[in-house]
Amino acid sequence: MCMNYNEIENLVREAGQILLRGTLTENSIHQKQGIANFCTDFDLEIQRFLISGLREILPEASFFGEEETEGSQNAEISDGYTFFIDPIDGTTNFMFGYHHSCVSVGLSYRKKMIAGFIYNPYVDEMYVGIRGKGSTLNGKRLHLENKALSQGIVAFGCARYNESDTDLLFDAVKEIYLRSLSVRNGGSAALDLCRIASGNNVAYLELKLQPYDYAAASVIIEEAGGCIGQGNGNAVTLDRPCSVLAGTADAVREIRKILE
Ligand code: IPD
Ligand code: CA
Ligand code: CA
Repeated sequence: MCMNYNEIENLVREAGQILLRGTLTENSIHQKQGIANFCTDFDLEIQRFLISGLREILPEASFFGEEETEGSQNAEISDGYTFFIDPIDGTTNFMFGYHHSCVSVGLSYRKKMIAGFIYNPYVDEMYVGIRGKGSTLNGKRLHLENKALSQGIVAFGCARYNESDTDLLFDAVKEIYLRSLSVRNGGSAALDLCRIASGNNVAYLELKLQPYDYAAASVIIEEAGGCIGQGNGNAVTLDRPCSVLAGTADAVREIRKILE
């Protein structure tokens, strides 16, 4: 099948405009399960918008979206095409006016990621990764250099609703901080992962993420020459949450040793 990736990219860009225009009121913020886990009316609107547009582009595809909207199975990925949708990655940033959130759409075929589209509308940055064809940022090809941990910044993620391994995470982050140039917590795993592909970060670590958080970014990173897997070196899973350790080959190797 000849996939029209440009149509998907344009749709993700349009979804970003909904995020950019989004103005929140108290009534448009909803609490989900767990501590500090939110969904806004804009998370729902963007997911609906994406599902209806993606259905027109690829009618046979199924969907694995974060939010409970119609059309999202929120479950098993199919053997055919599956879209992984995070309508707003960085919802807490969005709620507090950080201007650092994105729309993330990944596409798998036969349970392997084949494309990823991540758009930050605040700075108009569009990351695209197509399996076998490379990764780009606003159309410019990305190739990452294999830098060591000591040569760069490492981002990490944590969420109050996932906080079972807080000590393990922060002990590891302290060690990483001491062996790198510095650490950051950007509040959007997808954007922090993209920053590996564009060379701003040498690595990213989070102990529990959902497939729609990293699916799109995994193609962008790999096609730029980086690595993504779980903390223990296994491949990331597409049907259930897992830990994520991504970066240059050398930085990932060093962080894996710290985690051991
Ligand atoms: C969250 C962000 C955050 C990460 C969390 C994610 P959301 O996604 O990516 O940076 O640390 O684990 O759940 O809820 O904003 O889509
Ligand atoms: Ca997310
Ligand atoms: Ca989200």
